[in-house]
Amino acid sequence: MSSRLKLEVKALNGVGGYDVVVFVSDTLAPAAALDEILGEGARALVARAAAAERFKGKALSTLAVLAPEGAGYERLILVGLGAETERDRLDFAMLGGAAAAKLSAGGSADVLCVAPDAAFTADEVAEIGLGLRLRSYRFDRYKTKSRDKDQAEPKAVTLRVEDPSALRKALKAREAIAAGVELARDLVNEPPNVLYPEEFADRADKLGKLGVEIEILDEKQLGKIGMRALLGVGQGSRRESRVVVMRWNGGAKGEKPVAFVGKGVTFDTGGISIKPAGGMEDMKGDMAGAACVTGLMHALAARKAKVNAVGVIGLVENMPDGNAQRPGDIVTSLSGQTIEIINTDAEGRLVLADVLWYTQERFEPVFMVNLATLTGAILVALGQENAGLFSNDDTLAERLAAAGKATGETVWHMPLSAAYDKMIDSKFADMKNSAGRHGGSITAAQFLQRHVDDTPWAHLDIAGTGMGSPASEINRSWGSGWGVRLLERLVADHYES
Ligand code: BES
Ligand code: MN
Ligand code: ZN
Repeated sequence: MSSRLKLEVKALNGVGGYDVVVFVSDTLAPAAALDEILGEGARALVARAAAAERFKGKALSTLAVLAPEGAGYERLILVGLGAETERDRLDFAMLGGAAAAKLSAGGSADVLCVAPDAAFTADEVAEIGLGLRLRSYRFDRYKTKSRDKDQAEPKAVTLRVEDPSALRKALKAREAIAAGVELARDLVNEPPNVLYPEEFADRADKLGKLGVEIEILDEKQLGKIGMRALLGVGQGSRRESRVVVMRWNGGAKGEKPVAFVGKGVTFDTGGISIKPAGGMEDMKGDMAGAACVTGLMHALAARKAKVNAVGVIGLVENMPDGNAQRPGDIVTSLSGQTIEIINTDAEGRLVLADVLWYTQERFEPVFMVNLATLTGAILVALGQENAGLFSNDDTLAERLAAAGKATGETVWHMPLSAAYDKMIDSKFADMKNSAGRHGGSITAAQFLQRHVDDTPWAHLDIAGTGMGSPASEINRSWGSGWGVRLLERLVADHYES
């Protein structure tokens, strides 16, 4: 399986592992108590090492130095905090990530969470812990050579603080979030021969252990319900489609839930409108939206969030066999509207159309947020720095933008309008599933909106952020688990009682 770093919390006495991490501000003054904690000479060592290596204590900069004989530890790792005046803008998860990058494989590490100036709060240290864990994630379950496994994370990482019990409490929620992100990453990274719709549903089923209620709808049930847009996408695959409903009831009884919907195309060949061969292997990540929803439900349940939440994911494989859907086909979605298939590669919106309608009718949620690796066009527009945000509700959009800024999982608000909507009118049916290249991400969003009534709704196009993710201070994984932290924050800030 992938590695999960174990974090321990202890008081400041008895420090002396293999690596010792010390935070240093841009005045290069480490905490006054350092000599007391590490022994006489520790502060002087920091000052000499910093001067010798021209280390300036800039935020997120690091320096590892060999400890002197008899110090009781092998390496001292300095991590820069930058200026004290900028401290409220410092991302503590990234700080933990920067520290994790320097730790020795196989050794033990003590992270001295004492600030040189204004003390860290328990929440800030917990964020450091989250960053340590996320940066240490590796997906190595298919590596059989020990050479590749050798770069594994340290054996044990201990957060050293003045008040361990306060930190243990704050860390609980962060560990739930970390586990949710790790689950999402695992799902995105898994190869498509292993993770097909039924297997994905089995993995989601495991959330039952955390108290999440799971329903798995098979093709027979989906047909009875009338999800013909979704089933049409899956009909060219030997693998059966599934819809999974996950419910976490941590809020007041009878209170309306918040809802999250995910695109779970476990592999997207494009179908009969087949994709070119180059890079097609990346389409195993076309279920990143569903992975995020599953990881989020894990996080909410594991930290016992005081909210009623539902997650609904549409799981299909888009393949081109003799039974596959054709361009020109017309299908009737669950909403009763007809759709002319122009391009079988515009399949995500067909899956979501049915799942969105189903979620809205069955749960009447407070809001509905869907995530989908929906269009290549969003990569053209926004690169990998922002997910595209489309919404029919300004309050929800603003809250998502704020949660994005707070977590670093940022979103950019894109337009919806009647003029774009008109572009998906069809000659033969109520709408068509593709309107060509112009405004491709927007017409896809308009298509989704035709399957939402007046429920506050937001669509996040994560084709750029959910897979093939760029390296960051807290992520080295191809599948970043993007969105788990964003939506967890949205819930925590506005929807918990
Ligand atoms: N899964 C793809 C979108 C995608 C592209 C995700 C690149 C991640 C990286 C989606 O199903 C798709 O194929 N969209 C088409 C839509 C077009 C046919 C209207 C696209 O973006 O080209
Ligand atoms: Mn496609
Ligand atoms: Zn797709």
